[in-house]
Amino acid sequence: MSTSPSPSDPGTILITGPTGGLGHAATLAMANRPAARRPDLILVGRPSAGLTEVTEAARAAGANAHAVGCDLGRLPEVRAAASQVRDLLGSNTVRPLRGLVANAGVSVLDTRTASGDGYELTFAVNYLAHAQLIGDLLGSLCAPARIVLLGSNTYYVNLPRRILGVPAAQWRDPVELARPAAAGVSPSMRTGGVAYSNSKLAILYYSHELQRHVRAGIDVIVFEPGFMPGTGLGREASPALQRIARAVGRLPGVSKPETSGPALASIALDDRWSHLRDGAFVVVDSERDVQPFAIDRQRESRLWDATAELLKASE
Ligand SMILES: NC(=O)c1ccc[n+]([C@@H]2O[C@H](COP(=O)([O-])OP(=O)(O)OC[C@H]3O[C@@H](n4cnc5c(N)ncnc54)[C@H](OP(=O)(O)O)[C@@H]3O)[C@@H](O)[C@H]2O)c1
Repeated sequence: MSTSPSPSDPGTILITGPTGGLGHAATLAMANRPAARRPDLILVGRPSAGLTEVTEAARAAGANAHAVGCDLGRLPEVRAAASQVRDLLGSNTVRPLRGLVANAGVSVLDTRTASGDGYELTFAVNYLAHAQLIGDLLGSLCAPARIVLLGSNTYYVNLPRRILGVPAAQWRDPVELARPAAAGVSPSMRTGGVAYSNSKLAILYYSHELQRHVRAGIDVIVFEPGFMPGTGLGREASPALQRIARAVGRLPGVSKPETSGPALASIALDDRWSHLRDGAFVVVDSERDVQPFAIDRQRESRLWDATAELLKASE
């Protein structure tokens, strides 16, 4: 077993989705820290040239970085990845686990698309896979430790999102949210957007409930990187919309992986944020209140139980 590090030792940070926009930038921001503040890194992503590239880049920057191949759309792979992580920790190949950053995400337009386990793919990757990974690694986290989940303000409607046609969440029982849409439902930005927003509202509810289930010294935080148009998240949009998004993404003042990635690394590692817990919601670098409906004991408790059922059914 790993020996207890001093509280100031950054230990190891696990991040999912290190190959894409925000996760890639956050990974390199962590790898490029000065040695005393640089964590070991466990990079969980689909096996690909991108995963090899980011692992090598992190090592070139001086980090003790390890790739763990895993398709988050397949829960048996998530369980196997957690087991590999426990092996890396148990063999002292990496330092104790101090942070888990559940960054990977998708926005799938066709809500009929099922994960390997038969669940609606956006809900499965953004929420369920991370609930499995976190549940499997809770006992491996070494306090003080942080679990950082990725939220998105799209869970509620405001004027700019209304103008842009970005739909808010429409909460239903989690077992229904996990079910792919019926054959007759055609793919659309709207239905896909609702599924995405539901997955992000689920993350808020889960973060509040998760904090009630973890040991003292493990803090749960939700990070919103700001609207970063042009990342892979919009890969299913039309080519014209993707061109516009890339152009908007280059404008000054608009969030970018290059700025939000270091902010995410800071949330995972810096003393400045050590007071955050209970699913505190941070937008880039400031704490914000969530909408009143995003705190709901009944929904949170039902989500916790339904998640256990959904994960169990995939075993
Ligand atoms: N972009 C925004 O405006 C925005 C705003 C608020 C919140 N967020 C959140 O920020 C996070 C990162 O988003 P991004 O904009 O950086 O998107 P991105 O560029 O598409 O990156 C997504 C990452 O998730 C990984 N991923 C997707 N499906 C996976 C699967 N089945 N198994 C394993 N990994 C998978 C991707 O890996 P591959 O390389 O294998 O595809 C990639 O590394 C997401 O949680 C997103 O919801 C984004």
